[in-house]
Amino acid sequence: MDKLIIEGGIALNGIVKAGGAKNSVLPLMAATILAEGSHQFSNVPHLRDVITMQRLLTHLGVASELTNNNLHLTSNGLQSHDAPYDLVKTMRASVLVLGPLLARWGKARVSLPGGCAIGARPIDLHLDALKKMGAQIEIKEGYVEATASKLKGAEIQFNIVTVTGTENIMMAAALAEGTTILKNAAREPEVVDLAHYLIKMGAEIEGAGTGTIVIRGMQNLKPAAHTVIADRIEAATFLIAGVITGGEVTVENCPPFLLETLLQHLKKSGCKIKTDSESITVSASERLKSIDIATSPFPGFVTDMQAQFMALMSLARGTSRITETIFENRFQHALELKRLGADISVEGHTAIVKGVEKLSGAPLMATDLRASASLILAGLAAEGTTIVDRAYHIDRGYEKIEEKLTLLGAKISRTNQ
Ligand code: EPZ
Repeated sequence: MDKLIIEGGIALNGIVKAGGAKNSVLPLMAATILAEGSHQFSNVPHLRDVITMQRLLTHLGVASELTNNNLHLTSNGLQSHDAPYDLVKTMRASVLVLGPLLARWGKARVSLPGGCAIGARPIDLHLDALKKMGAQIEIKEGYVEATASKLKGAEIQFNIVTVTGTENIMMAAALAEGTTILKNAAREPEVVDLAHYLIKMGAEIEGAGTGTIVIRGMQNLKPAAHTVIADRIEAATFLIAGVITGGEVTVENCPPFLLETLLQHLKKSGCKIKTDSESITVSASERLKSIDIATSPFPGFVTDMQAQFMALMSLARGTSRITETIFENRFQHALELKRLGADISVEGHTAIVKGVEKLSGAPLMATDLRASASLILAGLAAEGTTIVDRAYHIDRGYEKIEEKLTLLGAKISRTNQ
């Protein structure tokens, strides 16, 4: 099992480039099912999840090749409408092929994703919306079996903001008959990026980035080319790597608007923030102040940065209350941070983080993607050696993380002993 070995206590300084967004490229890849021909994406990160989605799409009939962060996909006829469990169980985002398969081919058999470390993460909102659009849906032997002669536009109100739910229905609606209105839609930049690509493919979409998205269905769509937006979570993780170790890191290729709320919180805790149109620099001249955060859908404090922010607050001055409102079990990193000497107690959806003067290295176990990022950040700040086991989690969402951290001065290596 891959392990990362970190010699902590070294201030990280320098410039790192943000890669393309994992949570944008995955729906973009699913969208290629909607249109026959050759799709081109640039700024695509080499990640485990991208490879998993390539495997799933190949199985369905969309061949692809990823070289030097350029992804070329050729969408031919349907090979299969079946997204098998062994692929879906490793990546929940596989559910994103459901809408496109139904819209383009009128049928889909997609394994239910099952639970995951951070919560139950059902897909009921996806299914209810597709039913409203005329799909017949059954759950059989752990699979969603869906058919639709022709999806119809509908008015859909999500009672919870769902990112992939919004994306799935936006893609389904792009080829439906008539107009679909999505209310309480997700506003994430990755939703907007997908809408931009669908529009390039010929879709008629208004309101992406707001709570109400209107999609007028087309007879057919055509393939196009697109540059994936920056990964705001990767960028924020590296910015915190600088400030948690007492250094100064600049992330390039990442427009600051993607991280507005996070930067406001870093500033409130005492960080110095410098920005220009495509880069962000964060540093701190003294120990940070503890501040409270509560995660919420964009433009609120992004849940995918909650674990990394907890690592930062574990060394701040005072007490920080961190409330996770999106997922019901996204505090597993807290138990591991305590092994480094962090003072954290969890009460329901809130973690109380009492800042300590220092952390000391220890062997840790990663449980999920963003928890592993949190443990790496804490290990970089801790004195002594930290070993993060099950490092494969980190590879799902961070391209070449050791290389990028080493460029900033970190002492980090990987072993599979
Ligand atoms: C997306 O997951 C992201 N993944 C997640 O990033 C991110 O944490 C999450 O949005 C929230 O921002 C991708 O985009 C591939 P949701 P998603 O549907 O779409 C509940 C990472 O680390 N819900 O917005 O699966 C759900 O249980 C990953 O990169 C239902 O109840 O999340 C959760 O509590 C982790 N029924 C809440 O809504 C549904 O049908 C938000 O989930 C759908 C969701």
